[in-house]
Amino acid sequence: MTDLQTSIGDFQFDNVFMNASGVRCYTEEDLDALAQSDAGTFVTKSATQAKRLGNPSPRYARLELGSINSMGLPNEGLDYYLNYALKFQEKHPGQWIFLSVAGLTMEENLAMAHTIEESDFNGLVEFNLSCPNVPGKPQTGYDFDRTKELLTNLFTFFTKPAGVKLPPYFDLAQFDQMAAILNQFPLQFVNSINSLGNGLMIDPETDTALIKPKGGFGGIGGAYAKPFALANVRAFSQRLDPKIQLIGTGGVTNGRDAYDLILAGASLVQVGTLLQEEGPAVFTRLSRELQAVMQTKGYTNLSDFKGQLKTQ
Ligand code: DHB
Repeated sequence: MTDLQTSIGDFQFDNVFMNASGVRCYTEEDLDALAQSDAGTFVTKSATQAKRLGNPSPRYARLELGSINSMGLPNEGLDYYLNYALKFQEKHPGQWIFLSVAGLTMEENLAMAHTIEESDFNGLVEFNLSCPNVPGKPQTGYDFDRTKELLTNLFTFFTKPAGVKLPPYFDLAQFDQMAAILNQFPLQFVNSINSLGNGLMIDPETDTALIKPKGGFGGIGGAYAKPFALANVRAFSQRLDPKIQLIGTGGVTNGRDAYDLILAGASLVQVGTLLQEEGPAVFTRLSRELQAVMQTKGYTNLSDFKGQLKTQ
């Protein structure tokens, strides 16, 4: 038997794959489909306190090797996802899901954290510090002082299992600085990476930017992201306290891509663009492909190779 079981802290999951937040997790119907898929768990669309409609369309486009998006944080509001999660946990004892939270200000993040803290939610919370698509709102994850301030304020009262979703970093000094901050807090996980922010793609027929918001600038996902996802997971796994586990996100199009993220140190693997394009059945294919790679290597468990990347 080739086992894809994994865990984050005390939370156990039967399968290492899940969706990346934002992808097919907007409505109860989307979330039910993820729950019924082979994914080991799932995360809800990043929530703000109030419902948002997001940016004008077209705001997602498929690219040759991935996707570009500038959704602008459309979501049903925290209460919608929190209520879904509470109903889910009642119906599925022993299964754990992730709530994603993306306030546009520190105050909004803290207010949502208070709501979750005071609720009966018993899963994990992903604080998204890396939404690139709201005009006029820089990503918290690129501002080290603000990140530290937010986490300092958060952990004065927040006691539920939590992690952060980070943008990609491109300089080793950034990994050092961010890891030094994250290591000061009781985080269960760090999720790397969000999309490669603010790319631009042009339709050659019309000389027009492919998406409408922000003059065509948007987050790039899919195969374009793979080397950066691997590097970010690897860099953080080398720098974070071992109690802080890694979720690897970015560039998964087949089972070998997931295997690589796990080699780099990931305990869970999220799927974004590919899930958008193929739907929740993709988890069945990816699981089969990952198991096939493991079998050729003689491995039966993820722990046989997790974090075991070799270098020359
Ligand atoms: C959106 C995109 C992101 O990459 C993210 O982390 C949160 C929200 C969006 O555009 O909706």
